[in-house]
Amino acid sequence: MAKSPLIRKCLFPAAGYGTRFLPATKAMPKEMLPIVNKPLIQYGVEEALEAGMTQIGFITGRGKRAIGDHFDTSYELEHQIQGTSKERYLDDIRNVMDNCDFVFMRQREMLGLGHAILTGEPMIGPEPFAVILADDLCAAPTEGDDKKALSQLTALYERYQCSIIAIEEVPNEDTGSYGIISGDEIADGIYQVKDMVEKPNPEDAPTNMAIIGRYILTPEIFGYLRNTKPGANGEIQITDALRQLAQERQVLAVKFKGRRFDCGSVEGFIEATNYYYENDYIK
Ligand code: G1P
Repeated sequence: MAKSPLIRKCLFPAAGYGTRFLPATKAMPKEMLPIVNKPLIQYGVEEALEAGMTQIGFITGRGKRAIGDHFDTSYELEHQIQGTSKERYLDDIRNVMDNCDFVFMRQREMLGLGHAILTGEPMIGPEPFAVILADDLCAAPTEGDDKKALSQLTALYERYQCSIIAIEEVPNEDTGSYGIISGDEIADGIYQVKDMVEKPNPEDAPTNMAIIGRYILTPEIFGYLRNTKPGANGEIQITDALRQLAQERQVLAVKFKGRRFDCGSVEGFIEATNYYYENDYIK
């Protein structure tokens, strides 16, 4: 019998407006912006599936229906291109649709990432789960046989069974865009988190190790989130809940292998487009 995966569920907070990409995001969810020919959110779901997760939960909001349609059958289209050379363009999306179940919940008020994750509690229940922020696009390492970032986190989870976040060093002047951690290195590239702070000014940042949008969370995070007061930007921050958790239990941060593109910024989006066109797109 196949070994049942330790982590089955992955949450995708996807309620944000994507103001940096207006007017493209006026009537279209930012998660549907394509890197070459594939929407950002699909890269994320493929990464979750690679890590063995088949229960996909989207936290959406108004104007996000295209995400639901994307992960559903389009009968007219299927019929039109069946048996033609274009059918191969649907291979990847068919693969995730055949292997995953999709659940949608609406975040009615935009009270922050922590609030979005708490909104997902009914579909997670008392089990560990993953979170992917699709804006952070993580490509597999080009050398060696490591998988993408989330698989690297789940491999660590099997060993440590605690909450684990992905980190990357960023230029000092950029700390104000990220959650920043500090901690003790317990193994190569693995840190036991001591403290974390959301979007500090460079002069207040404890390090330049930034949280990237890949998390493995144990279910007690929900209790911490319920007690988390609004922090940076007046929002309920997952970073603040994790900080509290780290003070009471083990939380690890890992420098993952592979390249990350900040597709929430126009520059990162263009970089990702060029990279995926050269390395991933089947011309
Ligand atoms: C969120 C998190 C932040 C993290 C970042 C990664 O911020 O709050 O801690 O470093 O994602 O992309 P956001 O980019 O949503 O403002």
